[in-house]
Parts: sequence; C-alpha cells; structure tokens
Amino acid sequence: MKKILLLLCFGACHLMMSAVGLTVTNLRVDGQLCPLGVGHEQPVFTWTVEDGGLKGVKQQSFRVDVYSNPRCSNRVWTSRNQISSNSWILGPELDGDGTIYYWRVTAWDNKGRQCISKTSSFIMGMKDLGWSDAKWLKGNHQEWDRQDGATVLRKQFTMDSKKKVLKARLFAAAKGVFEVYMNGQRLGREDHDGEYVYDELKAGCVDYRTEVPYMTFDVTDLIKKGDNMIGAQLTNGWWSGDITANVYNKPDLAFLAKIYVMFSDSTEMAYVTDNTWEVNNCGPVLYGDIYNGETYDARRNYEWTKVGSSSSGWKPAELYQGATDSISAFYGPTVMIRPQYEQSVQKVTVWEGTKQTGTTYGEINVKSNPVLDGKKGFVLHKGETAIFDLGQNMVGWPEITVSGNAGAEITCHFGEALNDNGSEDHMNDGPAGSVYLKNLRTAKATLRYILAGEAKGETYHPSQTFFGFRYVSMTASEDVTIVNLKGQVVGSDLDEYGTFECSDESVNKLYNNIRWSARGNFLSIPTDCPQRDERLGWTGDTQIFSRAACYTADMRTFYRKWMRDLRNCQREDGALPDVAPLGRYGNYGNAGWGDAIVIVPWNVYSMYNDTEILDENYEAMQHYMTWLQSNIDDTYSYNGAGTEYGDWLAFEELDPSYVSVCYYAYVADLMARISIILGKEEEPDQYNALASAIREEFRKRYVIGHHLVVKSQTAYVLALHFNMLEEEIDYENAKKELREKIVSNGYCLSTGFIGTAYLCQTLSEYDMEDLAYDLLLQRKNPSWLYEVDNGATTIWERWDSFKTGEGFNKHEWNMNSQNHYAYGVIAEWLYRDMLGLGADYEDAGFHHIVLAPKPDVREESELPPGQKRIDWARGSFMTPYGLLSSEWRRDKDGKIRYTFEIPFNCKATFYRTLPNGLVQKLELETGKWSF
Ligand code: BGC
Repeated sequence: MKKILLLLCFGACHLMMSAVGLTVTNLRVDGQLCPLGVGHEQPVFTWTVEDGGLKGVKQQSFRVDVYSNPRCSNRVWTSRNQISSNSWILGPELDGDGTIYYWRVTAWDNKGRQCISKTSSFIMGMKDLGWSDAKWLKGNHQEWDRQDGATVLRKQFTMDSKKKVLKARLFAAAKGVFEVYMNGQRLGREDHDGEYVYDELKAGCVDYRTEVPYMTFDVTDLIKKGDNMIGAQLTNGWWSGDITANVYNKPDLAFLAKIYVMFSDSTEMAYVTDNTWEVNNCGPVLYGDIYNGETYDARRNYEWTKVGSSSSGWKPAELYQGATDSISAFYGPTVMIRPQYEQSVQKVTVWEGTKQTGTTYGEINVKSNPVLDGKKGFVLHKGETAIFDLGQNMVGWPEITVSGNAGAEITCHFGEALNDNGSEDHMNDGPAGSVYLKNLRTAKATLRYILAGEAKGETYHPSQTFFGFRYVSMTASEDVTIVNLKGQVVGSDLDEYGTFECSDESVNKLYNNIRWSARGNFLSIPTDCPQRDERLGWTGDTQIFSRAACYTADMRTFYRKWMRDLRNCQREDGALPDVAPLGRYGNYGNAGWGDAIVIVPWNVYSMYNDTEILDENYEAMQHYMTWLQSNIDDTYSYNGAGTEYGDWLAFEELDPSYVSVCYYAYVADLMARISIILGKEEEPDQYNALASAIREEFRKRYVIGHHLVVKSQTAYVLALHFNMLEEEIDYENAKKELREKIVSNGYCLSTGFIGTAYLCQTLSEYDMEDLAYDLLLQRKNPSWLYEVDNGATTIWERWDSFKTGEGFNKHEWNMNSQNHYAYGVIAEWLYRDMLGLGADYEDAGFHHIVLAPKPDVREESELPPGQKRIDWARGSFMTPYGLLSSEWRRDKDGKIRYTFEIPFNCKATFYRTLPNGLVQKLELETGKWSF
C-alpha cells in the first residue's frame, strides 16, 4: 500500500576496507558454548565467520568435523564440504553416554582463502544407558507454616581403589528445584573459559506433565578412590509451590540420579538412587519456594555431604509414588547469577516508628542514612528497619554480609517502590518512605536468615527462590552489624549483545529500562512479571516482545526451549494456553496469546534463519489452525481465537472479536509463508485462501463505505498492519483517520498490549514516521517517557502504574507490576525502523538486510510542544553472521549522514530517503559503509 519511489543508484558511497583474514568463532552446540548433557537426537551446530570487512568476499563453502579426541585425529563425523553461506547445520546422531566430542569448522571464501576454527567440545547426555533401575526418591513439599528443613538425600559409595577413572558423570533429575553435592562440594560445571560456575534453580521451569529434565555433571575430578558421598537437596521450585498448585496440587517432590563411571580398562560402574539412600531434613535450607522466599539457618551446614559426617537423624529414603515417566535431557540456557549486572546499594535508610502526617499511615521516622562501604558496616538494632535502595528494579536476590550472634535472625522483604505519601488513597500499604509490598499480592517474597555467629562475619545469598525488587527492607531479631549488601542478578544466561543510543537521554533511559525488564523476565521461561504471585510464561506477552528480544540478546535457544513448553501444553483439540508451562492463572484459546505458537517460531526464524524451529513446531501450528477453524457461529465463519483479553490494558475500548479476526488473518498469512519455507506442496495455497476468506469476512463485518466502523487506534493499526483492507482508498482513509485519532488525542497513544505491538511500526510502514517520533517522545500519560519521568527503571505493566503526586494505579492496584516487558516492544521499532535494521523473510537471519533507517526529520514547526528532534542514533546487534550496526547523524548542514557495518556473508538493500522525499535504493555488500 505504501508508495515508494525507487531510484537505482550504485557507487555514491564510500567503502572503508580492512583486510584481516577469515576467522571462525563462536562455536555453539544447541545454542550453547561447550555444553554438558546434549540430548537432542541431532544437535544444531552454529558458528560465526568474520573476514575483517573485505569487499566482495563471501563464504563459498564450509565443513564441520566431529572427533573423539582433542587432537582431532580420530574423526567420527563430517558434514563434508557444503557449498553454502550458511553458518549452521544439523549435526549427526552421535553415540555415547556422557561422551565428550570435539569439533571444528572450516570455512572457505570465494577468494580461495581457508580458515579453520579453534577446536571446541561438548558432552553428550545419557543416550543408551538408561537409568539402570534407578528409583525416584521422595522429598517433602515445603509449607510456609512448617519450615522444618528441606529434604536432603545422600548415599555413601565406594570406588575400587585399584582402577583409574576415565570419566565419571552424574545424571540427575528432580520434580522440584534440586542441588547436588559430592564430597562436600556443590556441583557446578566448567564454562568455556575453564572457570567453575554454578547453575541456579535447577533444572528450571517445564511442563512436568510431559517431561522431567535431567542434567549432566562431570564428576571425573571429584570422585575419589575409596569412599565417596553424594548428596542432594530439594525444594518446591515450579513443581510444588503455589505457582503451579492448580496444575499439580502441591505434590511430594522427587529425585532421581545415576553416577556412571568408566574406568581406563573400559569396565563400567553405576550407582543409582534406591532405598539404600538416606533422607534427612538437617540442611541449612529450612524453607524454599518461588513465590514465598527462603529461610536459611546458617548454624546448619553441608557437612552431611562429606564422607564420615554424622549419621544422626538419617533414615532410609522413601520411594516416590507419583508418575515417573518422560525424562529428557535438559535443554536451553541455564539460570545463573550474572555478575556483570550486579547492583550495589545507592542509599540506606534506617527508620523506626512513624510520624503523623495526616495520611493513613503517616511517614517513616528516619534515624540515619548509614554509608555501606563493605568494610565497617552499621549496626541494625532490634526494632529498626533498614531500607537498601539498589537504584535499579532488578530480579535475583541480595548477597548479604552480616555479623552477629549465633541464632540472631534477619528478615527481608522486597519491593519495587516506596510508599509515596502513606495514604490509602494513593494505594499505599504503609508509611511514606517504607517499602511498598501491596503489588506482590499473595506472594510472601520473604527472606529469613539465621546467623551462624561467625566471628569474622558471614556472607549469604538465597538460592531456592528469586525476587523482583529495587528495595530491600530488613529487620533483625537482635542487634546485628550489616557489613554489605549487593543485588545479585539472576536469570537465564543469555548473551545480551544489543546496543542502542541516541541523542535523547530519556529515550536512552527507556531503552535501558526495556533491557532490565527483559533481563528480569527471562528466567528459565519468558515471564510476565518477576515479583508477584504470577511469574508465568504468558503467551501473549511473549509473542509481542519476541522480536524485540532477539534484537537485544541471543534468544534462539531460549525460545526454542519455551516452544517445547508451549507444545507440551497444547490441548487435544489444538487450542493453546494463555500461559506455558501451565501455572496459577490462565485459560485456553485466546487471540494474541495462543497465536504465539505461530508467531514466536516465525520471529525466531526471521531473526536467525532457523528453519528448525519452524519444522519442530509445524505440526502443532497446523493443529492450532484446525482448532481455529472450528470457531464458527451462526453469523460468521472466521472468528479466530477467544476474546478474553482483546487489546489488553488499552486506554480505548475495542471489541475483542476484532482483535481475534485480525490475528486469525495474520497467522493464516504466516502459515502460508512457513509452509513455503518448509517446502510443503498444498498448504501454501490452502493458507492463502484461508487468509483471503478471513479478510473478506472481516470487511463485511467492519468496513462500510471505505471506512472502518470500529474506530480505536488499535483498530486502525491492526487493519493497516495486517493488510485487512482492500482498496487503496480504504487504506488512505484508515491512514488519515489514524493520524486524526493520534493528533486529536494530544499526540498520545491509546493502545494496549496488542495495538502497541505494531503502533510505531505501522506508522513507519505507512510513511507516518513523524507520528511515530511524536509518540516516542511524548511525555504525557499514556506514553513511554511518562514512565521514565515518573522514575521507572524498568517497563511497567500499565502506562500509569504510578503517577507522581497521585500514587499507585487506583483501579487495578492488584495488577500493577513495575517490571513487565510487553510495552518494551518499542525496542523493535528502535532497531528496525529508527536504525533501519530489518530482516528479510525470504532471505532470513539478516543474510539479506532491509536497511531502511527512518531518521527524525520532523521540521521544527511540526514538533509537538516541548519536543526536541533526535539528531543522531546508533546501535548494533549480533546476527547469525556477525555484527550488524547502523548509525545516522544530522550534520551542521542539516544533512543526514549514515554509517553501517554489514556482516560477512550478508548483503543489504539500503533505502535512503532523500530530502526531496524520493527513496534511493542502494545494494550494499559486506563491509563498513558511510554515506
Ligand atoms: C499478566 C499479563 C497477561 C495478562 C493476560 C496478567 O496477569 O501479568 O501480562 O498477559 O494477565 O490477561
């Protein structure tokens, strides 16, 4: 519909060259560097080739070789030379349990140069061995009212002292979150740099009805000749707490393990969980639960995981009686503490008692503002409360260094904000200045730590829960010295490669807030909010933000894993849930939510050229499409999915059926494209025909005399973006009316989750960038910068979650997360439109880049009051082929200058808007370009 005047022009640009030679790096198996426990039948191998920006150079071919030895002399598989510019291949089906393989990639370019990568490795999971009669052992569900110790299990076993261990692996699975220990050492893994690191909240969140993931540990160097002790600890996790109580009903926990040892004489040995194991509750974790927090008694310890430790209180372990099938290898990025994002305390406020201010709760009575420098600390007296402000709303837990008497107890609560004036009218739940906890709803999110009484002080962080917080509120049962407190960020260990910056500091803050919301909500699954009693994988939020997320971080494996969760939850009739894995809330079959089954794989495919994710989900997508077809009534044949959410949280009403029909057309279109990519024969035509039929009926329902009859901003956006209209005049009218709606709304948006997902993008698509910039830079409510101006450090659930001077949202106090990434979808527009880094669906993964930057070219006279034009913007991210970057800048002469870096193996079509409005089209190859 959009009119572009194309002018073909070559050579008007200047190319900078720097020949460095070919390099092949970033070797990953199933998305991970040197993974442990690879379980896919055929793992996916990926890598990056770089060439230093030489013009006209392309990868001609590549070869992947897999070896059984680190010297790479014993080859077990080769892809053979593949004439292709791809940087991924589906690997072989390899034998071996816990076997280590080595691999490398050779690439050749069209100038005859060859490059061989460094050798990388991976360790297979359990392949053929089976669990050798290992039995599931029972653990206790953890109750808030009965914090008497998490279940701990152990077994002492003896290794033949005459034999040399060649390799030893531990395979362990649990229903609940588990930890494993050997000979007093907590088990972690060596990362690709050789550092010993730990995965947290193992194994993570999955649909336990269909699979229980096992993890693989390399214990070759830990296992000793003679006696050894293996120990395990279990807490509720995503299996037995309130988070999934309506799905599983708080059942017993369970643990399964097998130690597999191969000796240098090729004999083998296995030790498995069975009724010779012992059980106790003597560990330091008294209680652990995702929503409610952790209680830890440091007077206890992990001595019981050592040979020769006390036998008191140990009883024979009980066998678990629940269902125990479907164990599969853990897949996806693990959850870790992410030290690079650690937060330090900005301010400490110690208060006791309140002052009357005429409001419901008054105001805290501040006693001091001690400085926390990690050395001397300050004494927190009984009766006082210390508030630690980390300056950033984050997800994870605190690491606390404290000293005091054995048995002294500190209690922490976690909040995203402070009560602003102490009145119920502002939805406050305590005196002004105290930590606001109301929006946590029923999540207790409480940390209790009982001191061991170490003379030198003691440092602790929880590990069986996580909190969404900026503020920690701490009290103590008796005087203790708080030496230090840090905010440890915990989440899925994703490579966050995206950068973005522009001349407007508020937009930079907004971008930073989006990054923090994504960081906090990608914890094993894509969650909606990390603080209250939800933390669920809402399918709508996920699909809306999925493309934006791929610009900022390497999401390929994370989403591939979550798609498995979503498929596992598909109902027999094909309907899909609102949350995956199933949890405390959510139904089945809602438009914009269940449609994630088609949209997320599509976005991942377009961003990474990953056809595997399309293939893997295709059947489930088809099943979903069949289910959609069954939603017929007396009047209409194409209703699409359910209408529970519509344009969720919008400021303007819209009939939810309208959203359902538009989404139906959208997923039908995507199915046509996907079926073409997968080489299906008949389906493309069928889905195209379906999409046309849906649109035809849509027009009967919603278009009269070339005008939409439904007139919300979202209605126009969806009609334009999903191409729901027919004639040019219909589009012209919709564009005009959308413009009028925005202008007459004082240049404010009125869209909810659904409309916002496509709002600025649609404006750019239909040559209305000026409005996209007007909305981006708007500061009135509702707008992105309204949040920034009101102190947000993450993205809020609602446009007006908090208003300075008015307090927290009055109507929906119980749905008021301050860390909810859906509206952060504007990051997609920043990358794709503002910087112009668009993927081409037909040549995906940025192999061909649609380079169409849309600088802010609004005339001074066009700027809404108070707005200042953006003068420059720059950003970059990693494509599967390497770093892609774009920058534009308005020079003193008013002309816009552009700089790009196009990765090796890629080409771009640069659509450059000239001052006269014409669009010049330039074909660019690999390298650095400036115009
Ligand atoms: C969640 C959302 C979700 C919505 C759907 C909320 O409780 O936090 O983000 O999409 O419910 O109704």
